[in-house]
Amino acid sequence: MERIDDVRETVPDEPTDGLSASVGVGPWDGPWPSDPHYDPELLAHGDRRNVVDRFRYWRRDAVVADLDTRRHDFHVAIENWQHDFNIGSVVRTANAFLAKEVHVVGRRRWNRRGAMVTDRYQHVRHHADLEALAAWAHEQGLPLLGIDNLPGAVPLETYDLPRSCVLLFGQEGPGLSDAAWNACDAVLSIAQYGSTRSINAGAAAAIAMHSWVRRHLFDQKPA
Ligand SMILES: C[S@@+](CC[C@H](N)C(=O)[O-])C[C@H]1O[C@@H](n2cnc3c(N)ncnc32)[C@H](O)[C@@H]1O
Repeated sequence: MERIDDVRETVPDEPTDGLSASVGVGPWDGPWPSDPHYDPELLAHGDRRNVVDRFRYWRRDAVVADLDTRRHDFHVAIENWQHDFNIGSVVRTANAFLAKEVHVVGRRRWNRRGAMVTDRYQHVRHHADLEALAAWAHEQGLPLLGIDNLPGAVPLETYDLPRSCVLLFGQEGPGLSDAAWNACDAVLSIAQYGSTRSINAGAAAAIAMHSWVRRHLFDQKPA
């Protein structure tokens, strides 16, 4: 059985994200560039990683350093009391939308499979419990915004998301814990229209992060 730690970054014969093995580029053709961003191993053997083209052949630490110069002002946090499989997906989406950091609250170990190794490019911080996360957010002057459809939640669609904030998600099943609910400055719900009680935390996180992107990078204010 494959362990979750066995998901590798470059696997030409076994793509990590469902993409074809031909994704990426082969060995560098021609004289090698001298720029220190480049990784000699990748230049020699090709770069099949799940990275955008501008980072092809770059060393991982050079990619992280580049992202660090322009990360956005929102943070993402998720409760982890029972190894929720959504956490990896949340990390991958946080990487895509360039969140400042991801905060895992509760258990330190989390299921990395859905992250598809994007966690290597994303700062992930652990907090033992909600009190620790809330204290950290308070120190940073960041409002803690719970995302859940519990009674009393305010619609995300009409809420003016602050530029600097922590978006906090609950787990499959219980959703946001009572401790999370009590620690939040506001709790925001995503409108639903069907029969299911909720969408999964990974989908909710993608919607909430993209709401932040629309509000702050495209200046789309709620009505
Ligand atoms: C599967 S939901 C479970 C909780 C939900 N309160 C329930 O009663 O079924 C897991 C997490 O996904 C997020 N989520 C799911 N649906 C949501 C919605 N409509 N609005 C906001 N968050 C949602 C929340 O972060 C929630 O804690």
